[in-house]
Amino acid sequence: MNEKPKTLRMIRWMPIAILAGLWFLPGCDTDTREISPATLTSNVPEEHAKGEAAFNRYCTACHGKAAAGTDHGPSFINRIYEPNHHGDPSFFLAPRRGVRAHHWNFGDMPKIKGVSDDDLKQIVGYIRWLQRQAGIQ
Ligand code: HEC
Repeated sequence: MNEKPKTLRMIRWMPIAILAGLWFLPGCDTDTREISPATLTSNVPEEHAKGEAAFNRYCTACHGKAAAGTDHGPSFINRIYEPNHHGDPSFFLAPRRGVRAHHWNFGDMPKIKGVSDDDLKQIVGYIRWLQRQAGIQ
């Protein structure tokens, strides 16, 4: 006779238990690793020199030196931008089409004028290299 209320009570707590579980799942946007941009910029391999130059020209104003982020845009040294989450094509699409703010509160990303497909290929190579240095694969 006592069983039923007990079960009911447990069921009532289920949503809270589930929510608590989700809270502890590895978050998409909570894993920004500490790595100094200075360390990264002073160790760029020759093969990514072009990518770094193009990134500095077109993207650094918002995404920061070594993609560390600024007040105008997010860092890419973040799990949210790892290859499985934001594949290489998104790095071509974003500058071509612009991005409506959806992950952060920096506002929209405008279309980036003057950046070529080859620049973007080099830029993605450079960003992936930066991410790997931070343990983001
Ligand atoms: C004027 C500022 C600005 C510049 C310059 C800029 N971005 Fe962005 N970018 C943003 C902001 C802000 C966001 C975040 C939008 C959001 O998700 O809230 C963003 C997001 C992105 C994203 C994620 C898109 C998505 O699908 O979530 C990519 C990829 C990206 N930028 C690539 C670039 C590249 C590559 C360059 C240089 C060629 C560049 N950005 C230059 C402001 C900028």
